Amino acid sequence: MEIIRVNASKEYDVVIGKGILTSLGERCVSLFGKSRAVIVTDSNVAPLWLDKTQQSLQLAGVEASVFTFTAGEESKNTATLFELIEFMAQSKLTRSDFAVALGGGVTGDMTGLAASLYLRGIPFVQVPTTLLAAVDSSVGGKTAVNLTAGKNLMGAFYQPELVLCDTDTLSTLPENEFANGMAEVIKYGVIFDKDLFDKVSGGDVKSDIESIIARCVELKRDVVARDEFDKGDRQLLNFGHTMAHSIEKCSDFEIEHGSAVAIGMVIAARASARLGWSDEDCTQAIIDANKNNNLPVECAFAPADLADAALSDKKRTGGTINFVVPEVTGRCVLKKIPVDVLYQIAECVN
Ligand SMILES: NC(=O)c1ccc[n+]([C@@H]2O[C@H](COP(=O)([O-])OP(=O)(O)OC[C@H]3O[C@@H](n4cnc5c(N)ncnc54)[C@H](O)[C@@H]3O)[C@@H](O)[C@H]2O)c1
Repeated sequence: MEIIRVNASKEYDVVIGKGILTSLGERCVSLFGKSRAVIVTDSNVAPLWLDKTQQSLQLAGVEASVFTFTAGEESKNTATLFELIEFMAQSKLTRSDFAVALGGGVTGDMTGLAASLYLRGIPFVQVPTTLLAAVDSSVGGKTAVNLTAGKNLMGAFYQPELVLCDTDTLSTLPENEFANGMAEVIKYGVIFDKDLFDKVSGGDVKSDIESIIARCVELKRDVVARDEFDKGDRQLLNFGHTMAHSIEKCSDFEIEHGSAVAIGMVIAARASARLGWSDEDCTQAIIDANKNNNLPVECAFAPADLADAALSDKKRTGGTINFVVPEVTGRCVLKKIPVDVLYQIAECVN
């Protein structure tokens, strides 16, 4: 078992280990006393992991009610958010009670936002059950729902009190969802840590997943400690994401986020080499890592369409756009680029 202490506007532990869901109740009681809870989960995760979660809380003397929503990104909206907040009120949760987000990034993002709003803030616990949520969304306090105008446009920075990641939950995750999480793991390697990149680039990572998750959480912990509110270094985590968002949009969201990030990293690395920003061309290494982890490396969209889609993204500021490029494997930098350079970058799709 690994325990990583996060030091942001709130301090909390991220506990990672096999079979540790049974310890959730005791850990919550030691944080909140014998209070009450709402468990928030989705329709895929509920039949798999809800019983164990409820049992653990019950055994520790926590009375929990359950809010289940239809699985998928389509549910991450204001309607489900308000239903959840109403449910918290009907369950008569007080400020000494808490919410548990049992699921992937959709569950975690929405539960965190509801927890930040209900009674002007109640505590919440993240129990990530996807690899993406374990290595990324459950840590760092970004919460959000989508608006009609775009993804994650309504949100708050609101840190959890505990993140408990039972690696057993990943055993039921479909292979494509595991691969989506691996795109984020590869991303951490390229941005911050060549050793991590080398460790995962051959694929076949499942036997070592606890230490891989722990390393990603340490890297995220460090960047959040430096820049909790996303004004500087934290933006490095957007490596691969500018083009990824375009690819998702151009595919009408048929291409999943992790796959889009995988392709986006290849484009950014190729652009970095072609435009003379990198000390080495790490494109091939990223292509190999993606392939070995069941992730794609290319897409068929026209470069101009990708660039146009990126320009409608919320991360544009005036005439420039922030773009993350690798200098070497294990070190990325944030570049403020004029929008016309984005068209040259999009040409690097192949
Ligand atoms: N807050 C942040 O910092 C941050 C960072 C990255 C991504 N995100 C957000 O995270 C979301 C994506 O997260 P995600 O990929 O975890 O999506 P998700 O929560 O939709 O989970 C993906 C799918 O896996 C299923 N699932 C979850 N756990 C399972 C398990 N153990 N066994 C079987 N099926 C399981 C879900 O029901 C869903 O169908 C996006 O909304 C994105 O915006 C947030």
